Amino acid sequence: MTVIGIDKMSFFSPQQYIDMVELANARGEEPDKYLIGIGQTQQAVIPPTQDVVTMAANAADEMLTASDRKAITMILFATESGIDNSKSGAVYLQRLLGINPYARTIELKQACYAGTFALMQARDYVTLHPTEKVLVIASDIARYGLKTSGEVTQGGGAVAMLVSANPAIAQINQDSQYLSRDVMDFWRPIYADTARVDGKYSANIYQDFFKAIWTRYKQKTGLDINNFQALAFHLPFTKMGLKALRDVLPEASETQQTNLMREFEASRVYNKRIGNLYTGSLYLSLYSLLDNSKTLKAGDHVGMFSYGSGAEGEFYSLTLRPHFKAGLINGQLEELLANRKQITIAEYETIFDNQLSGPLDRQLDTQQDTAKFVLSGLKNEQRQYICH
Ligand code: HMG
Repeated sequence: MTVIGIDKMSFFSPQQYIDMVELANARGEEPDKYLIGIGQTQQAVIPPTQDVVTMAANAADEMLTASDRKAITMILFATESGIDNSKSGAVYLQRLLGINPYARTIELKQACYAGTFALMQARDYVTLHPTEKVLVIASDIARYGLKTSGEVTQGGGAVAMLVSANPAIAQINQDSQYLSRDVMDFWRPIYADTARVDGKYSANIYQDFFKAIWTRYKQKTGLDINNFQALAFHLPFTKMGLKALRDVLPEASETQQTNLMREFEASRVYNKRIGNLYTGSLYLSLYSLLDNSKTLKAGDHVGMFSYGSGAEGEFYSLTLRPHFKAGLINGQLEELLANRKQITIAEYETIFDNQLSGPLDRQLDTQQDTAKFVLSGLKNEQRQYICH
């Protein structure tokens, strides 16, 4: 049977960040609360010249060849930070990236979960149409507000994944277990540009979902923790994944516990420095795991826990392909992080309040933004995208 899965992955997040010790000092908190209690060291700051469309374009452009652009027949754009209540981000992306016009373009929403749904749809579609490719995007900006308890868990960025037959990175197995329940742990009313959240409740629901779905997964598949070489989690902040992992670690032998903890550390290297990117967080964690693990090898199983508030969760597995590191862009994250500029908390606060919103036409200063795709302003209530 033809193997279907993730062939390539690419990531983008803007060029500036704040340091969590500086944020803790500015907010009168112990730095260790942010560094250890939350598990974040830095946070991406999104300038007004980037939105979910430009971040997606910057991520996907780096990995797509001319022949990929021709072979893509579907763009699935997962986001909860959409820029329009009607038009999908995927349509803009198709034009910006010069993707085959005979492609379907659609946007998907269910909090942080939508990227996983998109990936599953892509896998099923390519199973039926193995010569075609699907571009999956998970792009978001996590905004809670200045001086809120959620502020330390902000961030943003985009993960692009190409789904194809005979993929380089991993097979997506047909073993998903999922659960949905109407819960008000986190939401964003249509008029608001920051999330509403019941923080501790949301963390409890996340853990409850993980335990319930994991139990069901074991019952349905006959697999257990010993079948996995690594577990990757949706990481709204990296301590959250650690809490979930600790819920199931006692099921593993001592050696297996050590191995899973080691891989977990590899899976949170990048998330610690970017922050939450909602739909993309699980996939940045997967990227981090694949890039930083020194022990994972072909044929290994990676368990994936996806969670989106509101709430929906899913657990499924990936099987790594022989040259899985070849599907990542060599040194991409190292370079991106090395080239970022640290800004002060005062600068971040100004940027946070200066996002493009409202109906008034406005020209943005794009000089400082070195990304290839940028948002240059609003004209006749239409976002203006340019390619540097
Ligand atoms: P808080 O109330 O400021 O923090 O909010 P806290 O008092 O709960 O402290 C956090 C941790 O730091 C605690 O550890 C403290 O003990 C520890 P825990 O008990 O949790 O293990 N701590 C320290 N550790 C070391 N040294 C110290 C120290 N002081 C305290 N000196 C909260 C934290 C996460 C609730 C808040 O930031 C928040 O509301 N964030 C947003 C919501 C969120 O991320 N929820 C996660 C689950 S929901 C989800 O994942 C979905 C989501 O991504 C959205 C979507 O689906 O679209 C959010």
